[in-house]
Amino acid sequence: MTWDELLASCESCEKCELCKTRTNCVFGVGNKNADILFVGEAPGQQEDLSGTPFVGRAGQLLDKFLYAIDIKREDVYIANILKCRPPQNRDPRPDEEEACIDYLREQVRLINPKVIVCLGRISAMKLIKPDFKITQEHGMWFKKGNYLMTAVYHPAALLRDPRKKEDMLRDMQKIKEKIQEI
Ligand code: URA
Repeated sequence: MTWDELLASCESCEKCELCKTRTNCVFGVGNKNADILFVGEAPGQQEDLSGTPFVGRAGQLLDKFLYAIDIKREDVYIANILKCRPPQNRDPRPDEEEACIDYLREQVRLINPKVIVCLGRISAMKLIKPDFKITQEHGMWFKKGNYLMTAVYHPAALLRDPRKKEDMLRDMQKIKEKIQEI
């Protein structure tokens, strides 16, 4: 499948109920040849309205961490597990994740990044392992198939608990070092 075909099928998707309440499908944004693919959870209100992932407060904080490790947002690719916003930003349901995950799988195949970085627990539980413990396992590396994966705190978690920012900076620095060495 090409990028255009994938985008078109995602934008017309009716595989789950979230299509009824979405303003926009939030497909993903960034460099299609990126070394790093960031995967969040699901669009929030700002993302649903704009059609772009991570543009709200959490996204602005993510931008600051990218800046801190001297990586431009345009150089990475940013997507989510779910392409449509769950009402009231509730957690994604397993059936919604299953309905949506093939879009992400295809994005991963097309980008073929050096590393996949899960933003937060929900993404890590879906992509790395179901029992992923973000407080204990953030910043660790996991090999799944051909892909090297890690998880960092979700930027929204850092807004709730700024003490986690130190760990986030360290994890982001490790990601930068990793892509430089591979
Ligand atoms: N939170 C996410 O997980 N994804 C977004 O795109 C925005 C906020």
